[in-house]
Amino acid sequence: MTAMTTKTKIKTAPFGITPDGEPVELHTLTNNSGMQLSLSSYGATITRLLVPDRDGKLADVALGFDSLSPYLTSKIYLGCTVGRFANRIAQGRFTLNGKTFRLARNDGTNSLHGGLKGFDKRVWKTRVMPGQTSVRFSLRSPDGEEGYPGNLDASVTFTLTDSNEVRISYQAKTDRPTVVSLTNHTYFNLTGAGRGDILNHVLCVRADRYTPADERLIPTGKILPVAGSALDFRKPAPVGARLRQAGGDPAGYDHNFVLKTSASGKPSLAATLTEPGSGRVMKVFTDQPGMQFYSGNFLDGKTVGKGAKAYQRHAGLCLETQRFPDAPNQSRFPSAVLRPGETYRTTTIFKFLSLPQARNNKNKRRND
Ligand code: BGC
Repeated sequence: MTAMTTKTKIKTAPFGITPDGEPVELHTLTNNSGMQLSLSSYGATITRLLVPDRDGKLADVALGFDSLSPYLTSKIYLGCTVGRFANRIAQGRFTLNGKTFRLARNDGTNSLHGGLKGFDKRVWKTRVMPGQTSVRFSLRSPDGEEGYPGNLDASVTFTLTDSNEVRISYQAKTDRPTVVSLTNHTYFNLTGAGRGDILNHVLCVRADRYTPADERLIPTGKILPVAGSALDFRKPAPVGARLRQAGGDPAGYDHNFVLKTSASGKPSLAATLTEPGSGRVMKVFTDQPGMQFYSGNFLDGKTVGKGAKAYQRHAGLCLETQRFPDAPNQSRFPSAVLRPGETYRTTTIFKFLSLPQARNNKNKRRND
């Protein structure tokens, strides 16, 4: 019999035990070019993401913690899967089929990112797909959890491809009409987590419009053009260039873009983030109608992350693909309702390149 040499692409190690006695695992996926993705079953969380720069040097571009315990109490959603509903639902309340549902309020009078114990604070069941470089996390959210109707069976599958893509595919089914919007809340810093801020990162977003919000960050219901505003990233612009103009207190971006979705329903390019120093580039593809750009405005140095680095304001930025915030209360926004018999299915891809590679790809396309 010939010995088979299979290159192990997924390694699993214990990450800790929750106060309820639930063991948590850490899965590390490695691709051909040495890129690494570490995922914790607590919150279906990206804890570490090693990405090459233009010289092939790896850096961890995802903010996070070294061990489980700070994740248990942290309220800033580092790297986690957010659910059942990403971003805010005004007054923690919505009406569906004539019935009003009251949600757990954890953001003043609003419900944020699923409530007091969202999907980020749950231990997910894990299935490792050996050889396929995928890890699938699943959970059941019982009827009434955090106020949401319906037993919801949700899963999120992370795949690391040899073309340096992190693919995230979500699925959910319900037994009563409910609302769902799942996203990933990784704070990226393409220089490397804990190495300064993201203000010199250059962002380009494929959106002509956005959904303005009030001072409590609840959408007004209007959909406005980005033209002439700090939200105009149709041409690449440094994140820090128009921070004051973007508004907010502390100032910065915390806005939902209306993406140009592709007619095919397949993921299409939503944004390109470039860090000129390292030459790292991240492209975001999604099939979702919205993307929240959050520039880490509420980071204040109190959270101490990996390698004892304190995360100061703008230490990382999130590009959260999603249904629109407060969609359950906004009749003009795309629906976020999921009914029995339907499957909520969505994919977002974070693809990493480096500047010379990006240029080559452009030339290639031009010659195609
Ligand atoms: C929201 C912010 C919120 C942050 C919490 C982001 O997705 O847009 O308003 O403060 O999550 O970490």
